Amino acid sequence: MTVRVLLASRNKGKLVELRRILDAALGEHAVALVGPPYPEAPETGLTFADNALDKAREGVKHTGLPTVADDSGLAVAALNGMPGVFSARWAGRHGDDEANLRLVLGQLGGVADEHRGAAFVCAAALALPDGREHVVEGRVDGALIREPRGENGFGYDPILVPDGETRTTAELPSEEKDAISHRGKAFRALAEIIAAELT
Ligand code: IMP
Repeated sequence: MTVRVLLASRNKGKLVELRRILDAALGEHAVALVGPPYPEAPETGLTFADNALDKAREGVKHTGLPTVADDSGLAVAALNGMPGVFSARWAGRHGDDEANLRLVLGQLGGVADEHRGAAFVCAAALALPDGREHVVEGRVDGALIREPRGENGFGYDPILVPDGETRTTAELPSEEKDAISHRGKAFRALAEIIAAELT
């Protein structure tokens, strides 16, 4: 039997990634992922988990389907965890990746190498029609370099070198990034919960 699950995101990359992880974890066709048939509300929470849960609840409210949602971003130690939930609009305009990355690099201009720790963090939530909820978090720790490198990925990928790596996440092929990424970890953990709850 195929279970229908809503992924409360219009981001095609996330849909593809989650589908790949669910198929690997649960077998093909165990879960049919559908996109949101309603306009999504703006993110207003102050934590990744709150935003992921809000979006998952909104999906259940609109469709009655079990709903998965996520929220992610860059947490910089020297900036007390910011940009955090403001990662997509750090420079003021939503989704201006280049301006966001340049602003972070400027803010860290005088920060020594040993204090340039940062992590990509992802919270992934599942809300069920009966009101039960789950939220899990994945992270990849690393350090911020001073000049962007690499063409893959998006957002802050060109400036984060994961611990144990010499390449930025924009220099990793996507399968290698998925294997260690915050979103890969959170989605894989959520896939196990979906398996236990829905299949
Ligand atoms: P959202 O989870 O789609 O809202 O992502 C928020 C923002 O966090 C993105 O616009 C990026 O700036 C940043 N971000 C999230 N995940 C990644 C990643 O894997 N690489 C680089 N930047 C990321």
